[in-house]
Amino acid sequence: MKLKANYVVTMNKSYEIIENGEIIFDKEIIEIGTNLPKCEKEIDLGENSVIMPALINSHTHLEFSSNKTLLEYGDFIIWLNSVIKHRETLFVECKTECFKKAIDEMKKSGICAFGEISSTGDDLKYLKHSPLKVAYFNEIIGTAPGAVDMLYQDFLVRLSESQALEGKNFKTGISIHSPYSVHPVLMDKVIEIAKKKNLPIQAHFMESKAERRWLDEGEGEFKLFFEKHFKNAKPFIKPIEFLEKFKNTKTTFVHCVYANDKELSKIKEIKADIAHCPVSNRLLNVGLLDLERVKNFSIDYSVATDGLSSNYSLNLFKEIRAALLMHIELHPKYLAKDLLKAVTINAAKELGFNNGSLEPGKDADMVTFKLPSKVTQKELLPLQIILHTNEVDHLFINGKLIK
Ligand code: BEZ
Ligand code: FE2
Repeated sequence: MKLKANYVVTMNKSYEIIENGEIIFDKEIIEIGTNLPKCEKEIDLGENSVIMPALINSHTHLEFSSNKTLLEYGDFIIWLNSVIKHRETLFVECKTECFKKAIDEMKKSGICAFGEISSTGDDLKYLKHSPLKVAYFNEIIGTAPGAVDMLYQDFLVRLSESQALEGKNFKTGISIHSPYSVHPVLMDKVIEIAKKKNLPIQAHFMESKAERRWLDEGEGEFKLFFEKHFKNAKPFIKPIEFLEKFKNTKTTFVHCVYANDKELSKIKEIKADIAHCPVSNRLLNVGLLDLERVKNFSIDYSVATDGLSSNYSLNLFKEIRAALLMHIELHPKYLAKDLLKAVTINAAKELGFNNGSLEPGKDADMVTFKLPSKVTQKELLPLQIILHTNEVDHLFINGKLIK
């Protein structure tokens, strides 16, 4: 089949945007360019149309999708306490309809794949039928030394149940919740498995000032938090030691708002990525990741919504529009280009899918939509796309029309 549009945004290495471009594909992309050979089935998408790679939401927690107004925003520790208080209720309330709604919202906004952090494995029965591609990160969380064995056994069961679904549209990975919430013995065991099986990893890292203070000094709001919930008084690990553990793995560190230069340099050295979740960070009032610094360290980043536990929407166009408006230190024209990369090619690399750019041999995972009127300056196209797009007209996954 062949599609033709005013603009084909390839997201290839040279960020090529083809005017009056065409793309021939079946399950994979076959050819891309202008004046391509005739095909039996051809669609010209018309005035102001755009084709680009479908979006990829690198980091979500769909198991929290029943949250709307329950959790407390405005302060990280207050929020975390509210998560602990309401976690079970929210999980019980999120069943078939709730997962379907979450996936539908992503589908409408042109998302073809997402990274799911699963803490219980209960979401697997819903996600195995997902029309979108899933990178399923089995999460380990828990600091109590006496619970290590039980938590590890539970993790192994969840990992093996998810690995049974492994395929082109379903990838498995592991997630270490954070440096403050996982016993180092558990970290080591689980990272070892990821290394052996070559699984991608995600870990929350330096999300709040409270985390910074707790890990550096064993003081601050987290001290009270740990005394209240877990009765342990000391952090287990220094941030840099934590990062060291991920050497020779394929890891994405989520948030990194309070990561210092030494840590960013380590993240670069071990070839890890960062997932940036600006709306979540704003709602929990933890500040804003310094993207210019991330760029200066040449660290690749994706942008993700995080879960509905700390966002009002799973729409990635809304997320990158928020990012565009929040990062006032960066020029909108160049930031827009980077943000489109963040939700396509960079996120694909993090999750391990063969998509994220329109190039021969890549999966035909792409979206089409129309801009409201003509774009006079081609270099402003990424910015105009982010400003004017909320939903897509078509979503193709492996060349099949999904929306
Ligand atoms: C724990 O299970 O030990 C834990 C969970 C959340 C934050 C910190 C610790
Ligand atoms: Fe998260």
